[in-house]
Amino acid sequence: MNIVTQLVLPEHLSAHTPTKTQPENGVFLRYDEHGLSLAKVGEKGVVQVDFASGAAQYRRTKGGGELIGKAVNHTTKPTVWDATGGLGRDSFVLASLGLCVQTFEQNSAVFALLSDGLQRAKMQPEIAEVVANIALIQGNAAQLLREQAVAVGKPDVVYLDPMYPERQKSAAVKKEMAYFHELVGLPESDADAQLFQAAREVAKKRIVVKRSRLGEFLCGVKPAYQYEGKSTRFDIYLPLQPENK
Ligand SMILES: C[S@@+](CC[C@H](N)C(=O)[O-])C[C@H]1O[C@@H](n2cnc3c(N)ncnc32)[C@H](O)[C@@H]1O
Repeated sequence: MNIVTQLVLPEHLSAHTPTKTQPENGVFLRYDEHGLSLAKVGEKGVVQVDFASGAAQYRRTKGGGELIGKAVNHTTKPTVWDATGGLGRDSFVLASLGLCVQTFEQNSAVFALLSDGLQRAKMQPEIAEVVANIALIQGNAAQLLREQAVAVGKPDVVYLDPMYPERQKSAAVKKEMAYFHELVGLPESDADAQLFQAAREVAKKRIVVKRSRLGEFLCGVKPAYQYEGKSTRFDIYLPLQPENK
């Protein structure tokens, strides 16, 4: 996707072509003095990865990662691979708990938003140490999980938060987050099954799947156990070969 900007694009966004012209409609990437954001023609609000303020900051300083922490069993200091990086909110909570997180994102525009957010966070002393725990890779995790497992060894936990239909329709979705959903869309028919299979092959200890509290199981598969919050649920699956090497 092109990036609408009057500025020179920094190195981490160099895979994208700069343009001065906004598209006629729909969502687009915009780069200005505040960094990279996702905007929509005719709308004021934007989506930006900003780990230093808002919900990310609140969750880091006031807690709020308890359930996801329990879901990955954080007290055992697992290595976590977040296969569906998105805007990095869950990776950031996990990294705030002191865990090393390898994050994968396949959508090139989302990847750009997340790498830009990480880049800005590295300049901010209070969160630089947290984001230093996050390594970001671009590509389809269904393939990359296996390749990385061969290259660097298997992770303890694979974390999955794929998009699903009820989530897109939810009235609770903020207007700007609807741009994100418009950008990413829903997975192709067997994409979740392939990702789930790869996750179950590489995770040494568990696979954690985030769902809405009443959402369907991923691929219709019943989990081994669950952690339930007010609006979110974490389904825990065991690896195909437990504690595999
Ligand atoms: C619902 S969002 C994840 C939100 C994320 N948990 C957060 O905290 O911001 C799902 C994201 O996963 C990405 N994704 C889905 N399947 C993927 C795959 N096989 N490999 C890499 N990224 C994937 C999508 O492009 C999308 O950005």
